[in-house]
Amino acid sequence: MSKWLENAIFYEIYPQSFYDSNGDGIGDIEGITQKLDYILSIGCNALWLNPCFDSPFKDAGYDVRDYKKVAPRYGTNADLARLFSEAHKRNMRVILDLVAGHTSEEHEWFAQSKKARPGAYANRYIWTDNWIEWGGALRMISGEADRSGSYMVNFFKSQPALNYGFLNPAEKWQLPMDHPDCVATREALKDVMRFWLDLGCDGFRVDMAGSLVKLDDEDCSGTCAIWREIRAMLDSEYPEAIIVAEWGCPEKSIPAGFHADFLLHFNGGAYNSLVRDYSMDKELNPTGPDNSFFKKGGSGDIRRFLDEYLPHYEATKNLGVISLITGNHDMPRLRLSLSPQEIALSFAFIFTMPGAPFLYYGDEIAMRYLRLDTKEGGYDRTGARSPMQWNSGKNLGFSSASSEKLYLSVDDAKDAPTVEAAELDPGSLLNTLRALLRLRHAEPDLQARPNLQIIFAEKSRLPFVYRRGSLLLAINPGAKEASAELGKAITAENAAPLFSLGDCSLSQGRARMAAQSFGIWKIK
Ligand code: NOJ
Repeated sequence: MSKWLENAIFYEIYPQSFYDSNGDGIGDIEGITQKLDYILSIGCNALWLNPCFDSPFKDAGYDVRDYKKVAPRYGTNADLARLFSEAHKRNMRVILDLVAGHTSEEHEWFAQSKKARPGAYANRYIWTDNWIEWGGALRMISGEADRSGSYMVNFFKSQPALNYGFLNPAEKWQLPMDHPDCVATREALKDVMRFWLDLGCDGFRVDMAGSLVKLDDEDCSGTCAIWREIRAMLDSEYPEAIIVAEWGCPEKSIPAGFHADFLLHFNGGAYNSLVRDYSMDKELNPTGPDNSFFKKGGSGDIRRFLDEYLPHYEATKNLGVISLITGNHDMPRLRLSLSPQEIALSFAFIFTMPGAPFLYYGDEIAMRYLRLDTKEGGYDRTGARSPMQWNSGKNLGFSSASSEKLYLSVDDAKDAPTVEAAELDPGSLLNTLRALLRLRHAEPDLQARPNLQIIFAEKSRLPFVYRRGSLLLAINPGAKEASAELGKAITAENAAPLFSLGDCSLSQGRARMAAQSFGIWKIK
């Protein structure tokens, strides 16, 4: 594993909405560079930037038109290179978003591929043989191109699927993975990776990482074989670089060569069971019972998380890391259903588990999920992509542009949280997180290493107690006091308190936890 991943804490930035340094209403790379010290002050030492490449922005940049060019609205390649070097000066890392499964329909490869007489890129995408062949169960678009054929899409209509081949081709137009044109697709992906790594980036978060080979088997053996090959390339040419999968299945992705994978809001319910166990109505209000573990009045159950998480953890602990997230650009913000206090407790958990955690920009001040009209294919994700709230000034410090020019409007609530206000309040979520991350940096046992031991985790009972090496941790997110037997080996005498939220103590072999509390003790 790359050394730096052993203590990496990521900050995810949606570049459109972070900081507008030139007053045009949209965030930019220079704006991110200017805020590096702020990000470092939280305790985050790595960044993940959502796609910042040339694009028609039908899916917020996940529709790449030119993989090797920063979108002019964010700046230039030189600005990005400067961001890398400014980050490195601070011992921070930057990973970019690699959209591996598809391009924009405006990519030059697709422009060539869709011609009546396609040339070199004829097989860069998945095409049927003629215009009346619609590809059966595959998601195909017909009647859009001069070429006599239908093409497969990977996500939106604007995102044609790149052709890495079929695991078991069943039709003449389905090429095998080792067809020279499919091999050329993966070489093209490596070429993009080398381009940015040579410019100084530290790795990639890989979009829809499990989507490469079509009609893959249950084990995704075709897609996994490609990632193993890419990992071998990294290990030999860029041994410090990492790849983080957007897959949501560490058990598959990590043995396939990924250094990390997320637990996500899809592919299983573990992550949702912590913080998002509710439904949403058409107006995007949470409905129904909220059984999230971190909901104070809920009937959350840590076993629902652990029963799914632990098999992934056991299967991958010597190979790579699992990334727990506070949120991301694809889901409502935590604040939609959790209070700042509940969020603080969820952070206490997310940032003290093994692996490499990710903080979504703005979650550190409990930014709200806004009701915004869709933008760039965001739909109900748009409300989690609003501008960062820096201070009480114009546009909450995001941009000096007039408000109609903003990429998205800022939170207009009178009590919209800001970094400026949070910095002044010693008990703010931001300052609590800073203290927690200071401790994580000081205690190697709290970092990525796989030293998790479950001490008390009973179905529908609180608290949850776990160990990380020499540290004991306990959480009670509930509305009532709770306690758990720890056994004779742990007493108030041999356990020194290191950190707490709310009242908690160890006495007579028990962890006694007030409502909504969290504690860390060092065991001598
Ligand atoms: C996952 C990304 O996170 C999401 O924002 C995007 O729309 C899809 N992949 C398609 O690239």
